[in-house]
Amino acid sequence: MKVLNSLKSIGGYMPLQIPMGVSYYPTLVPLNTGRNALEYILRLRKYTKVYIPYFTCEVLLEPFNKLNIEYEFYNIDVNLDPILDFKLDDNSALLYTNYFGIKTSTVMWLSSIIKNLIIDNAQAFFVKPISNVDTFYSCRKFFGVPDGAYVSTSTQIGLNLKTDLSMGRISHLLTSIEKNIEDGYQDYLANNEMLVNNEIRKMSTLTTKLLEGIDYEGCELIRKNNFYFLHKHLEKINRLRIEITNEDVPMVYPLLVEDASLRERLIENKIFIPTYWPNVFDWASPDSYEYFLAKNLITIPIDHRYNMQDMRSILAILNSLL
Ligand SMILES: Cc1ncc(COP(=O)(O)O)c(C=O)c1O
Repeated sequence: MKVLNSLKSIGGYMPLQIPMGVSYYPTLVPLNTGRNALEYILRLRKYTKVYIPYFTCEVLLEPFNKLNIEYEFYNIDVNLDPILDFKLDDNSALLYTNYFGIKTSTVMWLSSIIKNLIIDNAQAFFVKPISNVDTFYSCRKFFGVPDGAYVSTSTQIGLNLKTDLSMGRISHLLTSIEKNIEDGYQDYLANNEMLVNNEIRKMSTLTTKLLEGIDYEGCELIRKNNFYFLHKHLEKINRLRIEITNEDVPMVYPLLVEDASLRERLIENKIFIPTYWPNVFDWASPDSYEYFLAKNLITIPIDHRYNMQDMRSILAILNSLL
């Protein structure tokens, strides 16, 4: 006989326990992926054309193809700033990436001169959105989560979104703990593949809980300390002029040297440097700055996994290879 219509079950086995905390962006719209966060903005604003940088990730094209919205590539200069040699009309927008989380001053400048602006903060998780500037984030570049994104807009669309499920895409993260990063790599690629053309949904409960358990202040501080340490030692040889401000929280340390074999030689020393972004070789012409960047930019990890000793080891290896 049921005496009380209790919604909550009592007892049973112990669920997975994750430290309880708060989201970094409790007031933003939580979604499943960065590309779908861009879709959210495009659906809301109904732009007919968007200017996007040659130097970005190809998955950003997904929402344009899905919604049948025109896009046109633009170039960036040696400071990673957009070359604004085109005119935006009322129905067009500019998409700019806060590259490596160190271009916040450019974001501020653009927000003062461009009305229809979309900021891609996938590489700048900790950089807060500017009010009235549509901004999106992707969480998995910064933390060990399978997916997750946020959107900041002045208005919200009344989309009745289902909540995504991430449990089938987390095997690489479990392997990274029980074995190591290398052993989880094939799963990482397969799970990445599952995010391709994945429907726009609300952030999964699993990702939400994992994100609530993070010590954001600690992560932010480590990133900054590691970055400044590397910059102090590498600034002289770095062809990229870095003008970092207090508002910036970097994703990686971008080192630009004209030595296309350095990436391979670092990998031989177990320092894994991804290419940002392989699609740029198809999109941009071989004599473009974007092509040069994709080929030569060495993005050194500086995140919460690493301490000063790790940074010294990286420097020692770099110095012996350069
Ligand atoms: C600059 C940039 N923006 C957006 C995205 C898309 O984020 P997500 O993978 O969460 O869709 C990526 C990479 O995936 C990226 O590198």
